[in-house]
Amino acid sequence: MSNQRSSLSPHVLIFPLPLQGPVNSMLKLAELLCLQNIQITFLNTENIQERLQNCTNNQNYFQKYKNFRFETVPDGLEEGNPRTGDQIPNMLESIEVKVVPILREMLGTCGAYGPDSESPLTCIIADGIFTFAVDIAKEIGVPLLYFDTISPCGLWTYLCLPKLIELGELPFKDDNLDEFISYAPGMEGIIRRRDLPSFFRTKDINDRILQLVLKEDKHIPLAHGLIFNTFQQLESPILSQMLNICPNIYAIGPLHTHLKTKLAAETTSSSSIWKEDKSCMSWLDSQPTKSVIYISIGSLAVMTKEQFFEIWYGLVNSGSKFLWVRRPGSVSGLDLEFEFEFDKIPLELAQGTKERGKIVSWAPQEEVLAHSAVGCFLTHSGWNSTLESLVEGKPMICWPYFVDQQVNSRYVGEVWKIGLDMKDTCDREIIEKMIRDVMELKKDEFLKRAEEMAKLAKESVSEGGSSFVDLDRLVQDIKLMKLAANHD
Ligand code: UDX
Repeated sequence: MSNQRSSLSPHVLIFPLPLQGPVNSMLKLAELLCLQNIQITFLNTENIQERLQNCTNNQNYFQKYKNFRFETVPDGLEEGNPRTGDQIPNMLESIEVKVVPILREMLGTCGAYGPDSESPLTCIIADGIFTFAVDIAKEIGVPLLYFDTISPCGLWTYLCLPKLIELGELPFKDDNLDEFISYAPGMEGIIRRRDLPSFFRTKDINDRILQLVLKEDKHIPLAHGLIFNTFQQLESPILSQMLNICPNIYAIGPLHTHLKTKLAAETTSSSSIWKEDKSCMSWLDSQPTKSVIYISIGSLAVMTKEQFFEIWYGLVNSGSKFLWVRRPGSVSGLDLEFEFEFDKIPLELAQGTKERGKIVSWAPQEEVLAHSAVGCFLTHSGWNSTLESLVEGKPMICWPYFVDQQVNSRYVGEVWKIGLDMKDTCDREIIEKMIRDVMELKKDEFLKRAEEMAKLAKESVSEGGSSFVDLDRLVQDIKLMKLAANHD
């Protein structure tokens, strides 16, 4: 045993929540660690792995790293489960019930990655919502790092939840969502009730999602450290507050930019679980600089038919060019094939779209946002999307859906002032006005701030920048964890 132990090399198991956003950012982290000679086992659910295989060359791409391997487990959900946003609580439950026993076996004494295996684990990096990881890490005697792939400002509202309940702020006493909340250290005068994650609006304290958040709150401080996809200058007041919960924080984002910088590459491998339609890139090539508004609501958000038409009218009436991602299943009750049959939709929408629009079912988003023709992003404010836009200096119009998105959109509008927040409305006139504001009337001021923020983001991942230094520290700490294991 001691001989084996002395030959240990650092070996990290990375386990993302099986959804597009978390898988994207965890894969970037995995590659950054691979580049530092740390061995990575990346645990995907079979469903995600299959979708990655169908839509990307990801699995070939990672073969260039001898110290990287994918491992899969089932997610425990039934074959036909749509794995949409509303299924997240079910997904978490099935992972807990059906996947955790498999994981225990895999990491246990006789398992493939157990202490007596050829390459035992020396660290686990798991999504912050995986509360079971605390016990598993303890059982096998390795440190656990939580990587919460949502925004720190969003996570901070989760961590304030117990106090908000204790103070009687939640459930809200009335319907006034414009009331500022009284307890929000580091966010004073910023967060109103409407800027809290939408599921905080429930009248039922026993709500399933609220209970999941409370459980996460109890487990986060038990990790050896917290990894965040952010950078100091973006969320400094929040990160300072977080230190009270966990004194060991690594703010190493924006991860996609960090990876591109380390690889000295313009693009990185795609990790899309939908097939990217690259035809939008040549369409963008033929558009004037900053003339196009890009619209996408990410991988989970859903809109009603009414909202869909309000957005469509808002876009067409604004007179701007637009590139719109219409993800299959993203409009409830609508078969998204239908809008390509232009004779079935109002003439003004058909004409405006033919003249100025391009519609795809999934785009290579990072490339789209980096394109000079794009002038603004109408987004659901998912954390990856927010960072991807911010790094490219593209102002945003925010239409948040759930999780951290209500908080992110507030920060975009009120704190960073790099866009407008239209949460809780979806009206064609408001949309048209916001597009005109960002693309024409106040274009220069939005662009100036967005470009300043992009510069800070890039500096943070350059040599000596805060994220660069934190990643270095993370790598050194992971290598020390290996030493700690050797000395057991
Ligand atoms: C989920 C949560 O809902 C969000 O609040 C949280 O911050 C992260 O996880 P999701 O809908 O996946 O969000 O949004 P986001 O985090 O923005 O991730 C979407 C990813 O898909 C981005 O990396 C984006 O580049 C990519 N994408 C999106 C594409 O590659 N093509 C598209 O057409 C749309």
